[in-house]
Amino acid sequence: MKHLPKKKKKDSTISRIKKPGNTKLVFGAVLVSALFIFYFQFFASTPVTRGEEIYNTYCVACHGVRGVGENPEDIYAMDEYGFVAPPMDDTGHAWHHTDEQLIRMTLEGSPRNPRMAAWKHVLTQEDAEDVVEYIKSLWSPYIRENCQGPRHMECMRIGSPAQ
Ligand code: HEC
Repeated sequence: MKHLPKKKKKDSTISRIKKPGNTKLVFGAVLVSALFIFYFQFFASTPVTRGEEIYNTYCVACHGVRGVGENPEDIYAMDEYGFVAPPMDDTGHAWHHTDEQLIRMTLEGSPRNPRMAAWKHVLTQEDAEDVVEYIKSLWSPYIRENCQGPRHMECMRIGSPAQ
């Protein structure tokens, strides 16, 4: 019983020393994680972020912000057959093409519509691959994973989840 007050004092001293240490550690960890998230969110470049930059520089004028395409009623955008720049998101039929077809169209242009120029003098193969990665990021995950290219017929069946 004699030692009890002494022991108590010791305990409270330890807990007083420990507490600020833990707080600093937690604060430090939160700060480091926040910096990582900030860095990856805004600075780390991935094929999609590089592709987005290329898209917003060269393609957005016709294919629209986030790939919505031109207004099909816009008579000033129409070619002689009445075609406008199609959407690149999943409301159009960009997803009916394979990566290779989309890359080829980007680099070689459209054989039937001179408005879709060949970009091979401006963009490298890698640029075209990145821009296609960005375009694909605009599609719903279901379409991206199950419906691209030759598989698109499957997804066009009435009642499929892609509808
Ligand atoms: C001056 C307008 C214009 C610009 C700029 C443009 N396009 Fe196009 N694009 C078109 C038109 C018009 C078509 C339709 C071609 C056709 O009917 O054959 C098209 C078609 C396409 C297609 C085929 C889509 C499909 O569903 O078949 C792809 C892919 C494409 N463009 C990618 C790009 C990319 C990538 C860029 C930027 C590097 C770009 N385009 C810039 C006008 C443009």
